[in-house]
Amino acid sequence: MKVRILNHPLINLYMTTLRSKNTQSTKFRYLARKISSLMVFEIFKDLNVFPNTIETPLEKYDGVKLNDPKPCIISILRAGLIMSEGITDIFDEVSIGHIGMYRDEKTLKPVNYIKKLPSDLNNRQCYLCDPMLATGGSAVSAINTLKEHSASNIKLICLLASDPGIKKVQDNFPEVEIICAQKDDKLNENGFIIPGLGDAGDRTFET
Ligand code: PRP
Repeated sequence: MKVRILNHPLINLYMTTLRSKNTQSTKFRYLARKISSLMVFEIFKDLNVFPNTIETPLEKYDGVKLNDPKPCIISILRAGLIMSEGITDIFDEVSIGHIGMYRDEKTLKPVNYIKKLPSDLNNRQCYLCDPMLATGGSAVSAINTLKEHSASNIKLICLLASDPGIKKVQDNFPEVEIICAQKDDKLNENGFIIPGLGDAGDRTFET
């Protein structure tokens, strides 16, 4: 199973406040960004680097250098923006793409409204960010979009994933690794993660 649920005590502490209905937008944004920053060590665990020897003031040192092309962070708008900000706060040698979609409230199907991606995704490590993986419809659509742009190395990064959403992504794309801060078991009849955290986009942007 290519799923990593971080479940780190510090992340769990912040996720508890993030989930609380008493947490207002300013703090929600702050926490979502901070949790995304905390996830960076795991997200980039297999970052493409190659050997690079430099000189310290005293000696040669066999270090590493980032491979070309740089990795790409792709936010699913709107809510994915806050994650890409938190990630690039820590590591910013990346290109940034955007896929705009919202979930139709009746059909629960994703509706696309914008797409801006680097032209050469084929050799890049692509990190697709969305705080919520609920039914999985948005993630599957976004991964299809990345594949249409020749991306072959894709990881899906979420704050909160549901079991049905994970299953849907895995059924469609067994090769895509999912990294999430936490996981919940189920969805309600409106496709919301239960207990979840509500609507990440609305809570982030106070809409
Ligand atoms: C939310 C969330 C995901 C999607 C998850 O976005 O940020 O993109 O729903 O649902 P799914 O897994 O069932 O597709 P939303 O449609 O609320 O748009 P927003 O980010 O603009 O608020």
